[in-house]
Amino acid sequence: MKAVLLQRYGSSDDLIYTDIPMPTPKSDEALVRLMYTSINAADLDYVNGHPLVRFTGLRKPGYPILGSDLVGVVEEIGSDVTQVQVGDIVWADTSNPLRYGTFAEYTALPAISLQKISKDIDLKQAACLPSAGVVALQNIQLKHPAKAGDTALVNGAGGGIGNIIVQLLHQAGVEVTAVDKQIKHDMLKEIGATHTIDYETTDYLKSGKQYDFVYDLVCYRPLSEATSILKKDGQFIMLGGSTANILRVLTTAPFLSKKFQKKIILGAYRTNDHDDLAQMHQLLLDKTIQPVIDRIIPLEETIEGIKALETGNVLGKIVIQFE
Ligand SMILES: NC(=O)c1ccc[n+]([C@@H]2O[C@H](COP(=O)([O-])OP(=O)(O)OC[C@H]3O[C@@H](n4cnc5c(N)ncnc54)[C@H](OP(=O)(O)O)[C@@H]3O)[C@@H](O)[C@H]2O)c1
Repeated sequence: MKAVLLQRYGSSDDLIYTDIPMPTPKSDEALVRLMYTSINAADLDYVNGHPLVRFTGLRKPGYPILGSDLVGVVEEIGSDVTQVQVGDIVWADTSNPLRYGTFAEYTALPAISLQKISKDIDLKQAACLPSAGVVALQNIQLKHPAKAGDTALVNGAGGGIGNIIVQLLHQAGVEVTAVDKQIKHDMLKEIGATHTIDYETTDYLKSGKQYDFVYDLVCYRPLSEATSILKKDGQFIMLGGSTANILRVLTTAPFLSKKFQKKIILGAYRTNDHDDLAQMHQLLLDKTIQPVIDRIIPLEETIEGIKALETGNVLGKIVIQFE
């Protein structure tokens, strides 16, 4: 079968499109033929050997086949599998601890991680959600979530996670300010942003405005600055950014919250949560959310797709369609 392999950490030049043997499902596994997947920023982190992904493989990639959004059809099941049947259309988030593996024509994975998809769902849209959409959902459903009338700023709003956060906040009646490149502003307004800020020309931290919630997907500024636009008792949810900022929030969030008198949270990331995926399924079915798709490419163009995400200017997601 065809697959995209990461030979070593380094850059997208270390990826190859090649032939590898078909996987054989174990007794508790299903063999799935991929129909759609999509590219995540996390795939890029693995390609570049980001320090925080090396816990899955210190010197060489623990997951040589990347890709964590699975939409496909069950082709074969192991002897103990009861959850799905051959021919079912299913989806799953295959990111850690499931070993990624969706940038390939077939993958074998525990059947318990699969959920069936309704025939009324757009499968291309579904492929945008198992990783990025579920992360967005998990971080909207906080202990004290944003409610109608609140204000929120989303930094990095035009990407895979950001476009879903904007939609979910808008649905909840929250006034959203979306920060991203100018070319994404029309799309961001269409999906529910009230205000947009171009990060290439304007420093959103100097607007003088204060927000109840800040979702920061690209937190590269010092935390004292990044949290300065929060109202007292506001919540700062960091989902991505510099390693230093992530480690600082990871290790000292309660201390930082006290110091800055604002609630600072490292974004939730519960892997393979069945309930979250089931909720996402309903939101898609209701058309409450409509993931933004920049382009649809075949598997053999995955490496170009990953390079495009690295270069920037992608609106929402790049989806990979299999034959
Ligand atoms: N997907 C997951 O499962 C997952 C889970 C947890 C955490 N995360 C982390 O969350 C972060 C975002 O993920 P994603 O999948 O949404 O990434 P993405 O699709 O690449 O989106 C990031 C967005 O931020 C924009 N951006 C880049 N630099 C910016 C800046 N300085 N100011 C404002 N916006 C900027 C990008 O625009 P341009 O590229 O056009 O500049 C892009 O629209 C990543 O760090 C990722 O590792 C992801």
